Amino acid sequence: MTSIEDSQPEVNIGLVGHVDHGKTSLTFALSGKWTDEHSEELKRGITIRLGYADVIIYKGDDGYGTDPKAKEAIALRKISLVDAPGHETLMATMLSGAAIMDGALLLVAANEKCPQPQTKEHLMALQITGVKNIVIVQNKIDLVTEEQALENYKEIKNFVKGTIAENAPIIPISAQHKININHLIEAIEETIPTPERDKTKEAVMYVARSFDVNRPGAEIQKLVGGVLGGALKQGVLKVGDKIEIKPGMAVDEKEGKKTYNPIITEIAGLKTGGMNVKEVGPGGSVGVLTKLDPFYVKSDSLTGNMIGRVGTLPPVWHEFAVKPGLLERVVGTKEDLVVEPIKKNEVLMLNVHSAATVGIVSELRKKGEIFLKLKIPVCANKGDRLTISRVLGNRWRLIGMGEIVS
Ligand code: GTP
Ligand code: MG
Repeated sequence: MTSIEDSQPEVNIGLVGHVDHGKTSLTFALSGKWTDEHSEELKRGITIRLGYADVIIYKGDDGYGTDPKAKEAIALRKISLVDAPGHETLMATMLSGAAIMDGALLLVAANEKCPQPQTKEHLMALQITGVKNIVIVQNKIDLVTEEQALENYKEIKNFVKGTIAENAPIIPISAQHKININHLIEAIEETIPTPERDKTKEAVMYVARSFDVNRPGAEIQKLVGGVLGGALKQGVLKVGDKIEIKPGMAVDEKEGKKTYNPIITEIAGLKTGGMNVKEVGPGGSVGVLTKLDPFYVKSDSLTGNMIGRVGTLPPVWHEFAVKPGLLERVVGTKEDLVVEPIKKNEVLMLNVHSAATVGIVSELRKKGEIFLKLKIPVCANKGDRLTISRVLGNRWRLIGMGEIVS
């Protein structure tokens, strides 16, 4: 039997919440990895892309932790953390990440009034995408007095009333000073169980990022193919499997119109939990090494695609009818705005699984349905849910959800 140390992480836990509330710092406190790696992220001091880190959780004589050398420590499970950006302009990235989250930590800085706009917008995104298991993390308690912390706690309680996070535990911590991390881990273990997985179904993997791992100037013999990162919703993928990536790649640009062709390739290697493995299943983040020319995968160009065995994936949609369910109020703005009905010719952003696309509303149909022509096609099943955002004050703001009807 393989040990927990040697196995794939079993659950994906997202870190979400308003900008600067400490998601990346907490990812670091838990995993020892600083996930803001890109130069632009380091320069601006914010997270721009989804960050990934794995952690093994142990329980020993002194309670929960991440130290394998703690007294009588026994490994409980390996988890994958998905560190989302909190900046208001990066909502699409957060929504792509939400597609692979089994549970989430909602960070709230104790030294600011709660809720801040993206505290609301991220919680709403979790609610819409069906991420129900949530732990609220009251961070930066080192910056406030006990009284202020209690006042902030009351604000949080008030804010989550009537939402999916109504009964979520609220754990006060300092990510920077590593205070109370053990209690947070205990709450994670109690609140975010590993979901039931189905390995017998056809494999479906959501691609959350794609990249070229070759260093500039590497020798030709040492070059490896493009890597796709993400998580499997169901089924298994093995080294040597022939796979299809859908919708694939834009191949032809005729009169401004792009055609998308599925990409067929072979799995050359699989990575998960920091190891090379022969097989991966549903659960924590995995990396699929393909035989594709790295040119095709660089800079997240295949993010939002689905991977499965050839001929088994859902259809690709260039246009579809959606039954929308709009929020009453816009959640991500500082001002309190009513969500106006969707208009003909309006441009909307749709997030379907890990894909983000833009669609023009070409028709308003009966029963409140809308018909959209998509800029980038998406791979999905009829009945799948998506989130709907519109531009308000120069930014995409979440305004509701929808279901693909035909
Ligand atoms: P985005 O990803 O851009 O949304 O930010 P983030 O939520 O990942 O926040 P990040 O971890 O980058 O932290 C933002 C700032 O808050 C940094 O300067 C951190 O050092 C600081 N910070 C994070 N946690 C704590 C904490 O517990 N106490 C104190 N005093 N500062 C903290
Ligand atoms: Mg961050």
